[in-house]
Amino acid sequence: NKGAYPYYMLKEIDEQPAVIHRIQSAYLNKNEVQLNSNLMDKLTNASRIYIVGAGTSYHAGLVGKHLFEKIAQIPTEVVVSSEFAYDDPLIEQDAFFIFLSQSGETADSRQVLVRVNDEWKKPSLTITNVANSTLAREAEFSVTLEAGPEIAVASTKAYTAQIALEAIIATAIGRTKNFEMAQNLDIDLELSKVANAMQAVVDEKGRIEQVAVDNLSDTRNAFYIGRGLDYFVALEASLKLKEISYIQAEGFASGELKHGTIALIEKGTPVLGIITQPQTADNTRSNLQETKARGANVITIVSESLAQTEDTLIIPDVNPDFAPLVSVVVGQLMAYYATLQRGYNVDQPRNLAKSVTVE
Ligand code: F6R
Repeated sequence: NKGAYPYYMLKEIDEQPAVIHRIQSAYLNKNEVQLNSNLMDKLTNASRIYIVGAGTSYHAGLVGKHLFEKIAQIPTEVVVSSEFAYDDPLIEQDAFFIFLSQSGETADSRQVLVRVNDEWKKPSLTITNVANSTLAREAEFSVTLEAGPEIAVASTKAYTAQIALEAIIATAIGRTKNFEMAQNLDIDLELSKVANAMQAVVDEKGRIEQVAVDNLSDTRNAFYIGRGLDYFVALEASLKLKEISYIQAEGFASGELKHGTIALIEKGTPVLGIITQPQTADNTRSNLQETKARGANVITIVSESLAQTEDTLIIPDVNPDFAPLVSVVVGQLMAYYATLQRGYNVDQPRNLAKSVTVE
């Protein structure tokens, strides 16, 4: 039931702070992580984690790679399930597979799980929003996202829920291994700060709507750019934009633009820069400047402590490792309002189904 909301997507975007709180209640007791001890043993012994997903879930996996490598210090590879299913990868002896799937029914991802079970015989965990789904049943372990049903075709709260759970799992592994960073990380507090920051963004939706109307109403294409975690959010924000507003949108690593793609920048091309990572903020700003010099219409989405007077949208600061959870909400709302403005059905975009059960 979407209640007073015109579309499920807007309701699901608004629910995200509450979803984070539900995940905290389900998996944290104050700062202690509560997860199956067998699962924790196997994860802690892994020499490499493979994260498998499609679309938005793949994008959540990219953020997960950063978290597992930084907090749990386990080398992590993220793979697009449809590519991996028929590939001939060299699988490490102590590999552990994590499947990310909102629906738990994505055929491309299931195809990989079949090989994990039958051919490679490795331990696996499915992180899904549907407790009794195929991927949940067929993996050795499963945990649920606690996001509640996601009805809109464009995935929003499942993406942020997946990242929050990856952060919790990475913290648990890092603590078991006595890594200082994980031990000092108050994951409960950090997630509470994230939920507050998300709330501040959804409370500012009028401003985001204005930016979408001013810049995305009749453009044919658009670019999201960033570096590191900001690049991963750029990929997700651009997927949201293309799937519902039909704007030809690309997410790009900002430093890569000058190696070819900058040729596409014309007078008025919208370029949305995401800046939440202190170590690359200046680099992304110079890349934005390069596009501006070629006529781009630059829009910036920037964490408060990195903001400058000319920035378009300022978002609250959180621990930079968790900033994707906040900046992506701007991208979701931008896609939502661009689509409304262009007069399309937000919840039921053309050519798409909520869960993709064919390979
Ligand atoms: C995009 C979107 C899709 C799904 C993808 C995987 O908004 O919803 O890209 O993320 O089809 O679906 P799940 O997570 O159900 O495996």
